[in-house]
Amino acid sequence: MYFDYNATHPICNEVVDTITDILNVSGNPSSAHKHGRFAKDRIEEAREIIADYLGISYKELIFTSGGTESNVLGLLGYCSLNLEADDKVLYSGLEHPSLLGVIHQLKSQGLNCVKVNCNTSGSIDMDDFKSKLVDAKLVTIMYVNNETGIQNPVGEIGKLCAKNKVIFHCDCVQALSKTAIDLSNIDLASFSGHKIGGLKGVGFLFKKSHIKLSPLFPKSTQEKGHRGGTENVTGILSMASAIKSDAKLDYVRDLRDYFENQLSERIECVQISGKSETRVGNTSNVYFPDCSGESLIFSLDMKGICVSLGSACAAGSISPSHVLLEMGFSESRAKSTVRFSFGKYNTKEEVDFLLDNLDQIINRIKK
Ligand SMILES: Cc1ncc(COP(=O)(O)O)c(C=O)c1O
Repeated sequence: MYFDYNATHPICNEVVDTITDILNVSGNPSSAHKHGRFAKDRIEEAREIIADYLGISYKELIFTSGGTESNVLGLLGYCSLNLEADDKVLYSGLEHPSLLGVIHQLKSQGLNCVKVNCNTSGSIDMDDFKSKLVDAKLVTIMYVNNETGIQNPVGEIGKLCAKNKVIFHCDCVQALSKTAIDLSNIDLASFSGHKIGGLKGVGFLFKKSHIKLSPLFPKSTQEKGHRGGTENVTGILSMASAIKSDAKLDYVRDLRDYFENQLSERIECVQISGKSETRVGNTSNVYFPDCSGESLIFSLDMKGICVSLGSACAAGSISPSHVLLEMGFSESRAKSTVRFSFGKYNTKEEVDFLLDNLDQIINRIKK
């Protein structure tokens, strides 16, 4: 039983049909012959579908290998071409490691990267943001956090950036198909296919037309010079198919809420991080006092139940989640926290099975 949708969403049923068909497409989209043209046309159809879904122009999409590359292309590609040493870049400590890695590199190149604080409930501290926005050239703040599901006030951040003529990059990987996304005041935004039920290894960067980027690969010719390498035709089509598929948001939110209500009734002292904040409907980040999160996920795994300790990238390492530490929680709380992320293929019976097992395992661990 799978409750780890934020790590990766199972491939959607409709996507399986789409990719089975496309496996017969053998052409390279750059080839001029009919097989190449056919593959290119399929990519352009996918581009239109994704652009329509987001209410943007198809010209504003650059296909990439996923959220990580989109973050790197968006930030590094923008900074390399447009910023100089000492220019101020604002970021939050809640960001995904792929983004914090770029910040680390930008710092080493002499940019003045300034961290915006978050409040204890896990969203951006807007007073701190406003005071630090002065003189900033670029802001990067995520839409939805992958560990807590908390939504940042991206609409307000975007408006302030636009008013102050600051470029705004937003990691939207965990927002896609979980909440409505308004890109009107966002200049650059990262997305990933496998978080919504498409294949792994594909994603896209939204880039407003006036923004200029330096490509990550020298002499790039694909994606209008923004990216090099033969396009991942199957992956791109899988992403367009997944975006069209019904995410059943109300159904998933009901399941998550049922889980949280039952959990609080059945297990003493559990605490749900960010419960008072605006959250997407599929994520539950739960603190189990006096229980090791690692023991818990191992015991659940033995029962055939898949959950995560924190972000997927941190799983397997015993270091506590940087997101929970950033929210001001202690190391010991962070190490006793487990992330449950639900999706449309989960059922109430599965959630009941999860609850029963959690009950038993926690009683055993505490004894
Ligand atoms: C918020 C966020 N950004 C970026 C990524 C990276 O996406 P990808 O796995 O497609 O590289 C992830 C994946 O966990 C994520 O949750």
